[in-house]
Amino acid sequence: MRTARGSATMAPVEPSRAVVSGAAIRHNTEVLRSRTSAQLMAVVKADAYGHGAVHAARAAVDGGATWLGIAQVGEAVALRPGLPDVPVLAWLFSPHADVREAIAAGIDLGLNAPWAVQHVADAAAALGTTARVHLKVDTGMARGGVRPEEWDSFVRAALARPELVVVGIWSHLARADEREEPTTARQAEVFADAVARAEHLGITPEVRHLAASAGVLWHPATHFDLVRPGISLYGMAPDGSDPGALGLVPAMTLEAELTTVKRVPAGTPVSYGHTATVGATTLGVVPLGYADGIPRQASNRGLAVTVGGRPAPVVGRICMDQFVVDLGPDATERAGDVVRLWGPGGTSIEDWARAADTINYTITTQVGPRVPRVHVEEPWT
Ligand SMILES: Cc1ncc(COP(=O)(O)O)c(C=O)c1O
Repeated sequence: MRTARGSATMAPVEPSRAVVSGAAIRHNTEVLRSRTSAQLMAVVKADAYGHGAVHAARAAVDGGATWLGIAQVGEAVALRPGLPDVPVLAWLFSPHADVREAIAAGIDLGLNAPWAVQHVADAAAALGTTARVHLKVDTGMARGGVRPEEWDSFVRAALARPELVVVGIWSHLARADEREEPTTARQAEVFADAVARAEHLGITPEVRHLAASAGVLWHPATHFDLVRPGISLYGMAPDGSDPGALGLVPAMTLEAELTTVKRVPAGTPVSYGHTATVGATTLGVVPLGYADGIPRQASNRGLAVTVGGRPAPVVGRICMDQFVVDLGPDATERAGDVVRLWGPGGTSIEDWARAADTINYTITTQVGPRVPRVHVEEPWT
């Protein structure tokens, strides 16, 4: 745990923490592996969806992941020293990015557009080495990747550069979280066709990959050689449904220490704008706010934090650094007592997402840098 001056003997100065269970991530990785015969690339972008990239990656590797996937090249370079022996794919960079450090570190690069072929090949040539690349075809997401009609010339361009070693062919699914939707099957067909054309042109990819969490869970025909789950590793379902029904365990518990506890009379209006008024009760101040990723949209939506095993409703507007909860008229809590915003047995990440009209992905990803991540190996409690 981080402490006030880095000393192990001092109490932490931060009033909150995100407790991340390595055991939960390991368990979730094993659950996903049991659903496929493909290899598993643990997606640890955006600091592992807020969980801490290096620790999450190690836990996923312990659970059987054999690849790591990350969006930005800088994230991959930062991750590399912590996991020097696991293949890492990074797929997001612009024509202005200097990718030489990534190539020198042995990081695989996803090529999303024709310019990237020359860009990465030139960088490898400047280093006097080769770069491992994965060619991306746009099978229907209309985000990264080249469209099928440009695919053959893209493949030929890559083959023409001896500095490129084509390790993978890949794409991404747009609607796999809608279990019965036919787009996924169509994308898989377009993908299989693109792979066949690349092989005809002379590429023998080590890995063909298309599926993220939803593909792993609900579309076996999209698994190919490698699957790329992210959200499900952290114990959340890609469609926002109950993760427990899939055997997944949420890996993050968010908790904070009350900074103020006080009795107030009936009719007390609370927080900015006085959007809520309470009866005679005890209010507690939670030192987390929208600067820490707590969604302001969840104000006055009937959400509760958990304190002493019981729910304490959020009252009034969530502010930048803090918000107020109603501890009830008979509360015995004091400043310093711990409240749990989400975690086992209480309000869930999905509850927060629903209250804020967003998705579970954004809730953990937005937990800000002021909140220390405390990595525990023990199972979740
Ligand atoms: C290209 C790519 N692959 C895999 C993933 C992991 O997706 P999920 O978190 O839904 O499993 C993402 C995340 O958005 C992605 O952009």
